Amino acid sequence: MDRVIKPARRLRGTIAVPGDKSISHRAAILNALAEGDAVVHNFLPGEDCLSTLRVLRALGVETALDATGETPVLRVGGRGLGGLREPAEVLDCGNSGTTMRLMCGVLAGHPFHAVLSGDASLRARPMGRVVEPLRRMGARLDGRDGARLAPLSVRGGGLRGIAYRLPVASAQVKSAVLLAGLFADGETAVEEPARSRDHTERMLAAMGARIGGEGAGIRLAPGDVLRPLSLRIPNDISAAAFWMVAAAVHPDAELRLTGVGVNPTRSGIIDVLREMGADLSLEEERQAGGEPVADIVVRSSRLTGVSVAGDMIPRLIDEVPALAVAAAFAEGTTSVRDAAELRVKESDRVASVVCELRRMGVRIDEHDDGFTVEGGAPVRGAAVASCGDHRLAMALAAAALSARGETCVAGAEAVAISYPEFWGCLERVAEEDGGDMNRQG
Ligand code: S3P
Repeated sequence: MDRVIKPARRLRGTIAVPGDKSISHRAAILNALAEGDAVVHNFLPGEDCLSTLRVLRALGVETALDATGETPVLRVGGRGLGGLREPAEVLDCGNSGTTMRLMCGVLAGHPFHAVLSGDASLRARPMGRVVEPLRRMGARLDGRDGARLAPLSVRGGGLRGIAYRLPVASAQVKSAVLLAGLFADGETAVEEPARSRDHTERMLAAMGARIGGEGAGIRLAPGDVLRPLSLRIPNDISAAAFWMVAAAVHPDAELRLTGVGVNPTRSGIIDVLREMGADLSLEEERQAGGEPVADIVVRSSRLTGVSVAGDMIPRLIDEVPALAVAAAFAEGTTSVRDAAELRVKESDRVASVVCELRRMGVRIDEHDDGFTVEGGAPVRGAAVASCGDHRLAMALAAAALSARGETCVAGAEAVAISYPEFWGCLERVAEEDGGDMNRQG
């Protein structure tokens, strides 16, 4: 599907972006392992999280998703630790790396055979990073290219706890090892080179798991039961980031993003946009579902370039496409380095961001581990493509709202992976010249 986006005369409104994708996956998976039923409010009904539900159902978990009301509600019938049943079919993880990697950890704890696969993008993403520690724990895994690529087969059971130092900061790998650790004999310890999102640790603690430490060393002792956890999922900061950038770079904008999760392991984009000079404030700071939450108000801003590298990268890894757009409109140079992980996301996000923003006239140079943007050149509407990547589609839309001339985003349906309402929301907050709303192309 193509989507035509006209430059907006004004951006105004209040937006409740959907529930957090990472937390939605975890709420479904961890509650499936709990002893009893849970009700999850504001579950994200995006395609990635629906992949997790499909996989859980194939493993005998009862789930019921009601997405007809204002906030989607998911009911999960927990099977207890070790209560999943052998699937009769290949487990289709779709486009979702989180589904595949976290479920590898869960399946490593179950003494049966399962095969995980997904779409072409997911089948090209590195899986050796979960296979290696899970094999060390005693699970049997295999797959294409020496078990580096899916389809993957898992035959679990008989696990022992390990002390594992992750070669790259990855919440998915950390979570897979911790989930397997629930089934292991003895303690499991995980150490990361830089701190990644900690939703799994928070949720496991809230469900009664014996988990402690943080950042450099997380330790988990196996237990007998997890308590079901009913919660309301905060709105997704990774979805909100596109609106933060859209508003900051537009000359006449004010957007309020309500109930956004601002967990410090995820809120790097707020820090970096502020460092660039964004007029961005947090209001009504509160706790929800064991996570810090706030309303974020963003207004038109004059941005300047910034350097982003090191420990900041995992704190905004999914927001880099949006950050590249902010950099294009900022005065001066922005560099993003130490971000080679972007090359193994839903697309090669270094290559795809560079290629598509160049089509819009952005001066951007590619590096092995990131890019450099010379900001301030006019950003022109152009024919661009999502490259099948939901976050690239939304970043390009944020640029298009402040570009000169019309932009056409090919592959616009990709947004449904994490933000099915994105285009409708854009129509609501963007006023075109002459007052018409943006429309579908
Ligand atoms: C995620 C972790 C991150 C992130 C991904 C979601 C998660 O990936 O990029 O979109 O839910 O744990 P890595 O674990 O590969 O860093």
